[in-house]
Amino acid sequence: MNDLGRIEDLPAEYRAALAKQNLVPLWPSLRALLPAGQPRPATRATHWSYQALRPLLLRAGELTPIEKAERRVLVLANPGHGLEKMQASAAMYLGMQLLLPGEWAPAHRHTPNAVRMIVEGDGAYTTVGGEKCPMSRGDLVLTPTGLWHEHGHDGSAPVVWLDVLDLPLVYYMEASYHVEGERQAVQPRRGDRLYTRPGLVPTPGFDRTSNPYPMLRYPWANTRAALEALAAEDPSSEEVEVTYVNPETGADVQNILGYRALMLRPGEALRLPVRSPAAVFHLIEGAAEARIGSQNFTLAESDTCCAPGYTPVTLVNRSGATPAFFFVADETPLHRKLGVFEQRQ
Ligand SMILES: [Fe+2]
Repeated sequence: MNDLGRIEDLPAEYRAALAKQNLVPLWPSLRALLPAGQPRPATRATHWSYQALRPLLLRAGELTPIEKAERRVLVLANPGHGLEKMQASAAMYLGMQLLLPGEWAPAHRHTPNAVRMIVEGDGAYTTVGGEKCPMSRGDLVLTPTGLWHEHGHDGSAPVVWLDVLDLPLVYYMEASYHVEGERQAVQPRRGDRLYTRPGLVPTPGFDRTSNPYPMLRYPWANTRAALEALAAEDPSSEEVEVTYVNPETGADVQNILGYRALMLRPGEALRLPVRSPAAVFHLIEGAAEARIGSQNFTLAESDTCCAPGYTPVTLVNRSGATPAFFFVADETPLHRKLGVFEQRQ
């Protein structure tokens, strides 16, 4: 591959004449735009320790009242993109959000999709499209694009959750905005009570629902039980993993980002295939290690780490006695829809 001409090889007056006409020569940037063999992601393997961030988040609870924050969040920013960009990867935003007892984060809706993975505390809830979703550790609550949502807290101790949004992508598309709303009237319908048995969907009057988001809360007790049942059913299976899907269609729960949960048996090491999308691993339970490219991160409970795409990842359960459970968020639905998804050996 031959070296291409550089911008500084061109006469200054020529460069100035190009700029004046809003023109740019391609060849000095061609290799950076289309690197050989594989992309050069700005996303860096990064680890966020919950033990380190928790006191800083609680301090935010003292420093900034909820009325002055609306959403009291510390963003898990990837230094590879620059902290000011507030993104974990090209398409993913991560934030740790704190809600104190009695606080209320007012209703709004926005174009980016969000999910909440509850990290600690009890008694908080998110009302999404009128459906009140209780939030307990390990639960996944969806707040899809365009749906009204607000957070409240009837419990007695701080509640923390991990927000995952496709905000960087939607913002990049110049399609990001929000609308403020009134406190929602709560409806009795509960998606996680309607879809309780595999292979069965409600059909009142023989009708299937046309709601694109029929299930908004995925309780951890169900996800954990599903993983344990899979591990017991086939003790030799390499990857004990489930995907959060729309129970009506079997498709990913949201259009842009995908969500999964995986279990490592005691002492198990799992080498993941090298895939094009970036991924985020959040340890719900256990003690683990994440080997991402040449980096090794020791993960304690509630720690989060990020892996760029096209990077080998191995997850290791550091405990020989108890399983480890991960929540995984990644850009697979986006890559598949755009036709750029790749898996390499
Ligand atoms: Fe929101």
